[in-house]
Amino acid sequence: TEPFTIAIDGPAAAGKGTISKAVAAHFNMAHLDTGLLYRAVGARMLSGEDAVTAARALVASDLDNDSLRTQAVAQAASQVAVIAEVRAALLDFQRAFARRAGGAVLDGRDIGTVICPQAEIKLFVTASAEVRAKRRYDELVQRGQPADLDAVTADVKARDARDMDRAEAPLRPADDAVLIDTSDKTIDEAVAAAIAAVKKVK
Ligand code: C5P
Repeated sequence: TEPFTIAIDGPAAAGKGTISKAVAAHFNMAHLDTGLLYRAVGARMLSGEDAVTAARALVASDLDNDSLRTQAVAQAASQVAVIAEVRAALLDFQRAFARRAGGAVLDGRDIGTVICPQAEIKLFVTASAEVRAKRRYDELVQRGQPADLDAVTADVKARDARDMDRAEAPLRPADDAVLIDTSDKTIDEAVAAAIAAVKKVK
């Protein structure tokens, strides 16, 4: 089968991850959560490594690590994500993944705008900051990580601001992206909206 790329971007905790996994499973495609690349580099920065060196040395097995799912690593990820050399070092891996036979779903912040501007379909998944903070809070609690809703809200807003305001590959919808606002949608409704948008072109 021909490569077919589904680009899914949006801010933190809008539902990208859930939607991406469900879309990939529905169409039997590979899925790459590109946030894990930045989280892996962020985690290495927190343990004292140089971010650019860490990005250049990154291997796929570095992404398979539950300790990347903390708020501290998320913040570190968004700090290393402003560095042009870090982004450049992660580019080829993402593009190669996107063109694999059978097609691929990539989710992140700049997939539709920078990594895969030729993607056959681009989705931009959003939700209000309050809804997103509550979801992230519930997720942390469920994972047994101590959390405070006000702190998580402040964290999500700080990370969004950094992601939107940076010079390199800022978070924004591609001109031809389909917008999906999940604020008032259940998971099933959000997934159905995403699958319907893909089916229009596939
Ligand atoms: O999606 P996730 O929350 O795991 O991403 C962590 C951070 O990595 C984001 O806040 C963002 O700064 C950065 N990121 C990025 N470009 C991507 C994916 C993630 O800059 N494609």
